[in-house]
Amino acid sequence: MTAQIIDGKAFAATVRAKVAAHVAGLLASHGIIPGLAVVLVGEDPASQVYVRSKGKMTVEVGMASFEHRLTASTSEADLMALIDDLNKDDTVHGILVQLPLPGHLNANLVINAIDPAKDVDGFHILNVGLLGTGQKSMVPCTPLGSLMLLRDHLGPLAGLEAVVIGRSNIVGKPMAQLLLNDSCTVTLCHSRTRDLPRVVRRADIVVAAVGRAGMVTGDWIKPGATVIDVGINRVAEGGKTRLVGDCDFASCAAVAGAITPVPGGVGPMTIACLLANTVTACCRANGLAEPEGLTP
Ligand code: GUN
Repeated sequence: MTAQIIDGKAFAATVRAKVAAHVAGLLASHGIIPGLAVVLVGEDPASQVYVRSKGKMTVEVGMASFEHRLTASTSEADLMALIDDLNKDDTVHGILVQLPLPGHLNANLVINAIDPAKDVDGFHILNVGLLGTGQKSMVPCTPLGSLMLLRDHLGPLAGLEAVVIGRSNIVGKPMAQLLLNDSCTVTLCHSRTRDLPRVVRRADIVVAAVGRAGMVTGDWIKPGATVIDVGINRVAEGGKTRLVGDCDFASCAAVAGAITPVPGGVGPMTIACLLANTVTACCRANGLAEPEGLTP
């Protein structure tokens, strides 16, 4: 193996420490405690794990955590009424509605009902538009965390060839925007891309976000490239399940210059950036200076 392992777990701990320091300062100087409300509708097991871990880490950095667990049969009107309450609540600076939502609920309608200033997921159409036009916005957590790892490892990204695999609203599209804003030459690939390995082979930066275990193999990777593996896939192995990324780790690590592992790469950065976005939202809401290094 030749690739350097990018330690997202360690980097996420430094981000959370920065957040915690800023939160302590807000309390000491202004008596303000940033608050994050997380809304979970239904009992999706993976979502329950994420929501529990978000709540725990929110409290660990000194912020207030408000959890709202609603039954799977919750009506759109009831969910919208809760969001309206959270929008009006001055102790809530960030609102996150865990996705996916049960099928009878319209996710776009629900997300766009969140006050854009409290939209710590960066999914509201206003924030999407601001990011797309290079203006100050709330930035989706997983792409923001991936960008932080890339900048930390590579320094300035200007001029680099970046290939993003996956065009989701949560990762692929905002990731492409962030890389473009950093002056990369960006190619956004998806399931209909012709000869994907050929396209990926020209990349200095590869971001894989497709949700298919081990899809990207070492023969797709340009020697020395930096590989960010956003995939979190559960695969069965000898009666147990194991987490693997979208990249075949062994073969990619043999060719890449650096690669994020799964677990311990991008995953921990997502929640760290959620906390970062919440403290940023709190500062903006109160007209105070934002923490440095936690926004693009
Ligand atoms: N489900 C999977 N990823 C995410 C995320 O980043 N935010 C929310 N709200 N739901 C998700």
